[in-house]
Amino acid sequence: MLWVKTLHILMIAGWLTGSFVVPRGLIFAKREYDELGRTGQAFDLTYRVYRFSAGLAIIAAITGFWLAIPYLSDGWFHIKLTLVAALAIHYIYTGLMLRQLRLAQLQKSERFLRIFNEVSVLLAFAIIALVLFKP
Ligand code: HEM
Repeated sequence: MLWVKTLHILMIAGWLTGSFVVPRGLIFAKREYDELGRTGQAFDLTYRVYRFSAGLAIIAAITGFWLAIPYLSDGWFHIKLTLVAALAIHYIYTGLMLRQLRLAQLQKSERFLRIFNEVSVLLAFAIIALVLFKP
């Protein structure tokens, strides 16, 4: 189980990196789009990080459910799953905004993107506290 947990934590670290970096990259990619009238290198890098981290998220979920076998009826675990679902929705929405930018349809302001960027940090904080305290 400790090897599975090791893998889980590593995959989570990778996915969280994507969750924190991609919304920030989106701000740069949008500025780049406004300047060039098309997507450029900032968009390409952001999109690659997004795709790579999405793969890590899947392994994180598989290892997470493996570890979850003894906790399936625990209250803290249900709250964790709800918060993880919120983080996943946040990530999927980030991907939708990347797609909108490529299609020249992204209408979001930089202020919105900056606030959106912080949401994943708050969710990650709550999830990590939850697994450690198991209230
Ligand atoms: C579907 C997704 C996930 C499931 C089912 C899941 C489930 C679990 C379970 C059951 C454990 C073992 C707890 C223990 O033995 O004490 C664990 C450990 C852990 N999880 Fe997840 N997890 C998921 C996603 C996440 C996410 C998104 C994060 C961070 C934001 C995260 C952070 C951690 C950490 C830091 C530990 C190690 C806690 C420790 O033992 O010290 N997990 N996870």
